[in-house]
Amino acid sequence: MERMGQKTSTYWFKNTQQVIDFNEGRLQSHEYGRYGNPTVKACEDKIAQLEGAEDCLVSASGMSSVTTMLMALVQPGGQIITTSDCYWRTRQFMQNFLPKLNIGVSVIAPNDFGALQQCLDSTSATLFFSESPTNPYLRCVDINKISKMCHAKGVHVCIDSTFSTPINSKALEHGADLVLHSATKYLAGHNDVLAGALAGKRELIQQVRTLHHILGGVTDPHAAYLLLRGLKTLELRVERHNRSAAEIARRLQQHPKPQTAAAAESWQPQGSMAGGSTGSSL
Ligand SMILES: Cc1ncc(COP(=O)(O)O)c(C=O)c1O
Repeated sequence: MERMGQKTSTYWFKNTQQVIDFNEGRLQSHEYGRYGNPTVKACEDKIAQLEGAEDCLVSASGMSSVTTMLMALVQPGGQIITTSDCYWRTRQFMQNFLPKLNIGVSVIAPNDFGALQQCLDSTSATLFFSESPTNPYLRCVDINKISKMCHAKGVHVCIDSTFSTPINSKALEHGADLVLHSATKYLAGHNDVLAGALAGKRELIQQVRTLHHILGGVTDPHAAYLLLRGLKTLELRVERHNRSAAEIARRLQQHPKPQTAAAAESWQPQGSMAGGSTGSSL
C-alpha cells in the first residue's frame, strides 16, 4: 500500500498478492517515485482537465517536457517543422542536439502557410512544433489551419502554450494533438517552482511517459504541490493579466507619439487572432 500524502521515493505493498495485482493492473497504487507519485498524478489530472486532454505528463521543467517529447516522438533519421520565433533553449536543442540523432529541422516563419505546405510536401516530417504566442515576439499561430494542413499529411502538432495558458487558448480544441507548458510561468504563478507539462492524446503521452521514466526528469511531490496550489488561482490571475494588457494597449493607441500609437495598433492583428482562436480578449 502506498504512503499517501507523504514525501517518499518508494512505496510498499502489504503482501505479494498486492504486488501481483499492481503489476497486472488490478490495484491502483505507486511503486517508485520516478514512475509516479500521488501528488504528481493529482497535478496531471488537473492540467488534463484544464486543457480538455485525455492525459497529461508533468516534468521537472518546461525544457524537460520539450526535450523528452521531441526525443520520444521523433525517431532518429526523422524530421520536424518548427517556427523561427521560439524560446532560444528550445531552438538550441532542436538545432544543435537533434541533428546528432540525425533528425532534420525545417524552420519556417509563424503562419507562413506556403512554406509549411512546401515542408509538408518535400520532407518526411512527422511533427510540427510551435509556440503560440511565441517567445519573445508574442506571435500567435493559426492552430486550426496548421493542424488541418499537418493532419492531412499525418503530421502531429504540438503547441507550446506557455504564454497563453489554457484560460486564453485551448490548443487541443483547435486541433493540436499536444499542448506543452513551461508550468514555471503562469500555471504555477508564484516564482517558487520549476515544472513542465505536456497534455494531449493518451497514446502520444504514453510514448513520452515511457521515455520520461528512463530519462528521469521527474517532478518531486513538493513541486507538484506548489504547482497545484498555483493552478487554484490561475483563472483569476490570467483574467487580471488580460484586463491590464488590454488597458495598456488602449492607452498606447492614444499615445501622442505616432510611432508608439502605430506600434500599439499593430498589436491588434495578433490580438485578434488570439481572440479569434480562443474566444478571449488576450
Ligand atoms: C515558451 C517557453 N517554453 C519553454 C520554456 C522552458 O521552460 P522552463 O524554464 O520551465 O524549463 C520557456 C522558458 O522560458 C518558455 O518561455
